[in-house]
Amino acid sequence: MNEPLPTRLVMGSDHAGLALKDFLHANLADAGYQITDVGTHSPESVDYPDYAAKVATSLHPESGEVGILVCGTGIGVCIAANKFPGIRAALIYSEETARLARQHNDANVICLGGRVVPPNEALQWVRIFLKSQFEGGRHQRRVDKISALDTPARAATSSS
Ligand code: RB5
Repeated sequence: MNEPLPTRLVMGSDHAGLALKDFLHANLADAGYQITDVGTHSPESVDYPDYAAKVATSLHPESGEVGILVCGTGIGVCIAANKFPGIRAALIYSEETARLARQHNDANVICLGGRVVPPNEALQWVRIFLKSQFEGGRHQRRVDKISALDTPARAATSSS
């Protein structure tokens, strides 16, 4: 599939992900990406689900935007972001998972661990993710099945 590569990013982190988020923000802005940074902006302790929710609800994945979420391990923000319909958040921990999260899972949010990944390595994984493309085909069928799992959550939200 030859979709245009992402140019717009929505970034967020808790305090444990702040340094890595700011490092990625600076480097990706230099590389020409348009970035919305939903915080956190200070080292004061905050709760990672709040920032996962801010990124998930600010993101327009249908227009090609990609989210980047950072907490201490990347696990908490990933669990929280995947509660939102339409969000496919992937915990990235290698060059291969960066590539495959896009090629096979059509992930639209990258989750990283600020306490467990050297910043330059994380930047390299983000670059690989942003340059990789969804392969479609049999993977489209599987991603469609993931989307179908969103339906009860949507129904519950709209009836409340
Ligand atoms: C915060 O101390 C830490 O628990 C959080 O950043 C994250 O790692 C949770 O998954």
